[in-house]
Amino acid sequence: MARLGMQHPIIQAPMAGTSTPQLAAAVSNAGGLGSVGIGAYGVEQAEQHVAQTHALTARAFNVNLFCHRNAAADVQREAAWLEYLAPEFERFGAAPPTALRCIYASAVGNPPLQAMLLRQRPQVVSFHFGLPEASFIEALRQAGTTTMACATSLDEALQIQQAGVDVIVAQGMEAGGHRGCFDPEQDRLLSSLALVQILVRHTRLPVVAAGGIMDGAGIAAALQVGACAVQMGTAFILCPESAASPAYRAELQSDRAYDTGITAAISGRPARGMVNRLHLLGRGYGQALPGYPMVYDAGKALHQAASAQGSSDYAAHWAGQGAPLARAMPAADLVATLARELNAQARA
Ligand SMILES: Cc1cc2nc3c(=O)[nH]c(=O)nc-3n(C[C@H](O)[C@H](O)[C@H](O)COP(=O)(O)O)c2cc1C
Repeated sequence: MARLGMQHPIIQAPMAGTSTPQLAAAVSNAGGLGSVGIGAYGVEQAEQHVAQTHALTARAFNVNLFCHRNAAADVQREAAWLEYLAPEFERFGAAPPTALRCIYASAVGNPPLQAMLLRQRPQVVSFHFGLPEASFIEALRQAGTTTMACATSLDEALQIQQAGVDVIVAQGMEAGGHRGCFDPEQDRLLSSLALVQILVRHTRLPVVAAGGIMDGAGIAAALQVGACAVQMGTAFILCPESAASPAYRAELQSDRAYDTGITAAISGRPARGMVNRLHLLGRGYGQALPGYPMVYDAGKALHQAASAQGSSDYAAHWAGQGAPLARAMPAADLVATLARELNAQARA
């Protein structure tokens, strides 16, 4: 972490759709490591995002890629899910889409995206949902880029180590946003502290703790069990530099923050967010869902129809179990506060 110029062991998590160049740069400029999540963008928009972050900070920052295996289209499953959701669209006088699209391209097997990263040369590149090709990891290594990958189990961590990635992000089940599992069917739902300890014991790589860490005491606990740093997402959502909507911010500051749950009904992959009507519809659906990101296409269409009428019943308001502890303050102040709290723990 020192070689990245970090003064504090704090990584602001990449949050596709919520993290921004302004947020990442503010965190890096304050001595942490900021991240931008470009998993939801096409190459052109992703490149603008990365270039904008470069323009806002001379310090290291992280760019995060989605490495999912594209689910095969399944017309029957997709039609059944859309039929199930049709009454929900009707509530807002809207019609469901006639078919679902694969709205996010994976970084795996994506030479234009990989070439963009090698051109833009962010100091850190991280992977979620799996790993890219060995050739891309090697090209990043040769370019002097530090790589990180998310593991939710020892098995995934060993694959990350074997692939020559530099750092493991140990994501516990407390975490907000998508579970980084390579295969969601194999999810063991380990908690952050247990996972960090297992990975520290059985791998040779530095381990970053992610999930439910909201303050200096949480950071100290993660460091105490062997993490080299923490990755915090939910704690940064209320920063003015994030792209969170007013409705998202209001919900995170309400009692709704006490009720988070993991659902695949919003995107097609399990993710933790504040429980809403779409979570509940998912729980009541007795059949197999279509794949990721096809389910997201339906969820976004439903959210668009509902939000136009002031409802966030179907929103992807991701948040971790620590959500009620989120604080609204500028990112630089939050990093300074976390560092101060961490130092106070060290002195105690
Ligand atoms: C709103 C939101 C969006 C997220 N998007 C991403 C993403 O694009 N890529 C990624 O690797 N992780 C993403 N995550 C997960 C984080 O990397 C991290 O695992 C998580 O935020 C840690 O848990 P915490 O939210 O309790 O701090 C996201 C998390 C949140 C809260």
